[in-house]
Amino acid sequence: MSFVEYSDLIQDGDVAIVYLNHESMVPVKVQQGAQTQTRYGVIRHSTDLIGQRYGSKVTCSKGGWVYVLHPTPELWTVTLPHRTQILYTTDIATITMMLELKPGSIVCESGTGSGSLSHAILRTIAPTGHLHTVEFHQQRAEKAAEEFKEHRVDHLVTVRNQDVCKEGFGVTGVADAVFLDIPSPWEAVRHAKAAMKKQGGRVCSFSPCIEQVQRTCEALADQGFEEISTLEVLLRVHDVRTVSLPLPDFGPDPSAQTQPDSTEKTPPGQASVSLKTTTPPREIPGHTGYLTFATKPRT
Ligand SMILES: C[S@@+](CC[C@H](N)C(=O)[O-])C[C@H]1O[C@@H](n2cnc3c(N)ncnc32)[C@H](O)[C@@H]1O
Repeated sequence: MSFVEYSDLIQDGDVAIVYLNHESMVPVKVQQGAQTQTRYGVIRHSTDLIGQRYGSKVTCSKGGWVYVLHPTPELWTVTLPHRTQILYTTDIATITMMLELKPGSIVCESGTGSGSLSHAILRTIAPTGHLHTVEFHQQRAEKAAEEFKEHRVDHLVTVRNQDVCKEGFGVTGVADAVFLDIPSPWEAVRHAKAAMKKQGGRVCSFSPCIEQVQRTCEALADQGFEEISTLEVLLRVHDVRTVSLPLPDFGPDPSAQTQPDSTEKTPPGQASVSLKTTTPPREIPGHTGYLTFATKPRT
């Protein structure tokens, strides 16, 4: 298993995602001899996981069952241990596309935070790209580096424990794209420019507040960035359900042929039609942040 390559079988040392139900999944570090408790009973790694195929349905000790899934950045985002606020897949998908990331891209990112976005970047730029990620909180930087190793993507990423606003990304003239998720991104814009290739590239900054966006846009314009645009992406998840709608009773149909011996007449007022439909959400997920994109032109 690796977060950038698929394997069929679960192996000792893998990180597997245990799917309990639609709203509940947990990451499990697979270890010979280890056990994981779930509400459906115990999963014994040696017999229930190691050697089984990813996607298998595993019966737990109390007779309930779970599915064991191969990890992906999307599953990791919804199961990872939070050390900070994280980016979710709706924003991540837009960032990946608008930064024009692809296999081989060189990307700079700060801060690493909980590594939610980092995993998605790594999957996209593998097998030949590289991520330079900067985190000034020492324990977060160390934990991220440890996770990248556990997830077998450490050859694709360099974690630097420094202040991106003061010391930059630790690389010059190499990046195709730069991403910022820090409280004062405008202080890192000149470092973003310095990290990027002469041929130019794309930059994105994520900020919850519009005042942060204003200052970042000003800094981007001052540094010669072009095509500056800010957008927000909102997700609406629909539930699929069967609904039963009563049919209006318009009285007897005068054109219908009457069959006096018919026994299958619907009593008036009780006819209904059953159909599958989607229902819009009762609550709309709130604001996450504004995404400001810009292009560094060739210099
Ligand atoms: C909101 S989190 C980033 C979350 C990340 N995008 C994710 O998806 O998991 C912001 C991180 O930036 C770090 N940070 C803030 N200012 C920084 C700076 N000037 N240099 C480096 N890291 C910084 C914080 O310590 C924090 O871990």
